[in-house]
Amino acid sequence: MNIVLMGLPGAGKGTQAEKIVDQFQIPHISTGDMFRSAIKEGTKMGLEAKSYMDQGLLVPDEVVIGIVNERLGKDDCNKGFLLDGFPRTVAQAEALDLLLEKLNKDIDAVVYIEVDQNSLMQRLTGRRICRDCGATYHVIYNPPKVEGTCDKCGGELYQRDDDKEETVATRLEVNLKQVEPLLSYYQKKEVLQSIDGNQDINKVFESVEKILRGLA
Ligand code: AP5
Ligand code: MG
Ligand code: ZN
Repeated sequence: MNIVLMGLPGAGKGTQAEKIVDQFQIPHISTGDMFRSAIKEGTKMGLEAKSYMDQGLLVPDEVVIGIVNERLGKDDCNKGFLLDGFPRTVAQAEALDLLLEKLNKDIDAVVYIEVDQNSLMQRLTGRRICRDCGATYHVIYNPPKVEGTCDKCGGELYQRDDDKEETVATRLEVNLKQVEPLLSYYQKKEVLQSIDGNQDINKVFESVEKILRGLA
């Protein structure tokens, strides 16, 4: 099962990905998470990515395409993959098509989580993430049992640098510009499935699951 999860910042890609991975045991490939690990490790690519991410801008296509090429070539992707936050531009979508053609693979579905724009700011500024296992919480919509502590592993929760209000505004603006052309790209290929992301987390997952079970 080869899936692309699309949605504006804060739509719930990472949250749904955690549930999909639990149910379907396919690798979760989040370009945002890959950049954050590279930053933590202090690699050259991480440093370059950070200069864009901190401003809420997109990392250049060639850098993103490079890391995805490398990741999708690994053996664990033979049983399927879940891309989260890639592709984000039509150029990235075209590069992905080329790569999949070489690997003799296809995209089975592009699932677009549609959320009203006015909810996204609240979702992002209230998000908290576990430093140890990466689990995602929200101070109001999905609070941990003990404030500041991860339910799953007891790790410390933190706020992403790019979840401050000023950066969130730029991220939304930048991503909005890219989303329409990308949706038309996948609509033309007849793989696009949109779901209503303005429901609670478990209801959204029911819609996701229905689509994925239909593919299996
Ligand atoms: P990335 O990490 O992918 O950030 P993003 O796209 O801005 O998306 P988010 O991770 O912020 O949102 P999400 O949809 O995963 O939401 P989540 O589930 O956490 O990328 C970061 C940066 O890296 C980019 O800005 C860019 O610089 C660079 N980058 C990455 N990929 C790139 C690419 N392909 N090209 C170029 N640059 C790239 O949920 C958000 C919050 O809402 C959480 O608190 C959650 O608990 C809550 N929530 C989730 N679902 C619900 C719900 N149904 N109801 C209520 N609350 C909910
Ligand atoms: Mg995410
Ligand atoms: Zn944790």
